[in-house]
Amino acid sequence: VSHRDETPKWREDFPYDAGEDEAVTRRDLTRFLLVAGTGLAAGSGWVWARSRMRGERAWPAVDVCGEGEIAPGASRGFEFAGEPALLVRRPAGELVAFQRKCTHLACPVTYRPAGDEGGEALVCHCHHGRFDVGTGRGLAGPPRSLRPLRRIQLERRDGRIVAIGLVPRGEVVG
Ligand code: FES
Repeated sequence: VSHRDETPKWREDFPYDAGEDEAVTRRDLTRFLLVAGTGLAAGSGWVWARSRMRGERAWPAVDVCGEGEIAPGASRGFEFAGEPALLVRRPAGELVAFQRKCTHLACPVTYRPAGDEGGEALVCHCHHGRFDVGTGRGLAGPPRSLRPLRRIQLERRDGRIVAIGLVPRGEVVG
């Protein structure tokens, strides 16, 4: 007599449905993925929000100098947002300011109204890097393929030149 079709005694005592077990596993996995995905999305959102806040963060304004203290073609170093910065009065009178650390290996950039190697530029002596004075974009040397120098927003207050913020990356100030 075969006992194959008979339900074993242990199964009667401990009813167990393997198919349902698999369904639970899938449900658990779905729940896990949902929680993990939500966590990941929240984390990414937080990083994004933080980076936005960094770009638009209100740094304390810095009084750089008086309007008459910087002649056309001259530059002046100062500090803004905890970083070295450079104020430039271009030959035509326009004022611009940038963070001063070269985007290649952080050597300080200096201003050249014009030079042997070309026209007006912000230059880095470490590896012959050159940046556009209007936009901060790399023109020559390693910076050509790197991000631009970060521009600093300026304001005139009662005859003084004041640095008031970092221009968000990718934004051009006229
Ligand atoms: S550090 Fe400026 S070009 Fe290399």
